[in-house]
Amino acid sequence: MVKLPEGVTLPEGVEIKEGLEGVFTSVSRICKVDGQNGILIYSGYNINDLAKHADYEETMYLLFHDKLPNKKQYEEFVSRLRSMREVPQPILDYLKRLNKKISPMHALRTAVSMLADFDDKADDLSYDNCYRIALSLNAKIGTLVAAIARIRQGLEPISPTEHLNEAANFLYMLRGVEPGPAETESIDMCLILHAEHGLNASTFTAKACASSQSDFYSATTAAIGSLKGPLHGGANTEVMEMLLEIGSVENVEPYIMKRLQNKEKIFGFGHRVYKTIDPRAEHLKNLSKALSEEAGNMKWYEMSVKIQEIMRREMDLKGKPIYPNVDFFSASAYYTMGIELEMYTPIFAMSRMSGWCAHLLEQLSDNKLIRPRLYYIGKMNLPYIPIEQRD
Ligand code: ACO
Repeated sequence: MVKLPEGVTLPEGVEIKEGLEGVFTSVSRICKVDGQNGILIYSGYNINDLAKHADYEETMYLLFHDKLPNKKQYEEFVSRLRSMREVPQPILDYLKRLNKKISPMHALRTAVSMLADFDDKADDLSYDNCYRIALSLNAKIGTLVAAIARIRQGLEPISPTEHLNEAANFLYMLRGVEPGPAETESIDMCLILHAEHGLNASTFTAKACASSQSDFYSATTAAIGSLKGPLHGGANTEVMEMLLEIGSVENVEPYIMKRLQNKEKIFGFGHRVYKTIDPRAEHLKNLSKALSEEAGNMKWYEMSVKIQEIMRREMDLKGKPIYPNVDFFSASAYYTMGIELEMYTPIFAMSRMSGWCAHLLEQLSDNKLIRPRLYYIGKMNLPYIPIEQRD
């Protein structure tokens, strides 16, 4: 409920839905988030099936086309995508000139925006052209994320290769060596799980921007800015920072209890739509466990499980159960894979680019300017006083 200042009442017929909670703004065929039952559907397919059987490119095709590809369609899609991975050299040169400690999300947002300067059809809103831009953005964002990660470490960016899938090519560009199948599958699954999630804050931002008939570069640049925040995609980095600050399984209980007593939020928990376990978190928990076992270091996984247990106990006591979201176990999974903390959110952006673009493509055929209202509670009818006469 919105807090109104004393003496202010809303007239009949005015209802305020803070944070647009529970509001449906349109219809979509792309994603269903069943928050009561913890079910996530991408264009008809349960995320559990996609995580188990599909790969990321197939998932992207599904989001763009509302159907899974046959073999020929898949091969054509993948080959077109892979042919677009190279990023214009001036953008890489620009990234190299940035302060190495710059937030990778700032760098990524700027770099994605710069891509428009190298596309002379950036403003052509025909479906075929926007589809081309959607593929290009998805093909290039991995190259940008890997380049930013390397530049931060004082290393030269590595050019993409066309013989690897999205996940393997990303790890190759990050490290300079081709990854094994286990690591490729882990990143592939993370990309599938983070690809799409309905009208979350960043997708809403992208859609609102595009609703003025602005271009895909502007809309996805805006979306990256929204994803960056710690209440949204930025939470995964915060989770790992918290785990490092806690330091050991023994410290978990006093740390979490103190935070809760201080009414501070625990990053990686809670969700606007899920009122039960986020199905993506279940997969990421299993992945984090498997990666930790393989690495022979269970510490971060065990600390995460302990936090989950305490949150469950405490929130049940309050009668307000809160569950881990997609950002919670992805943190320990990425850390165990040796990925730098600050790169977790850019990796999220790399994956969510497909969801953003799917929504932008869907919106092209039925666009309406997104323009909600704010109910004015400010002053009225003040006399204008010339500046010289004001106190
Ligand atoms: N830790 C402790 N308490 C929490 C948490 C949390 N992570 N999340 C919600 N609560 C509590 C709030 O304190 C509030 O309690 P109150 O009613 O006593 O004031 C109640 O649950 C409702 O919380 P809101 O923040 O009002 O719920 P909302 O739907 O607006 O927020 C959000 C959802 C922003 C995700 C919230 O749960 C949160 O801040 N979580 C931590 C950040 C995070 O992990 N974000 C990633 C979300 S997933 C994604 O975007 C990819």
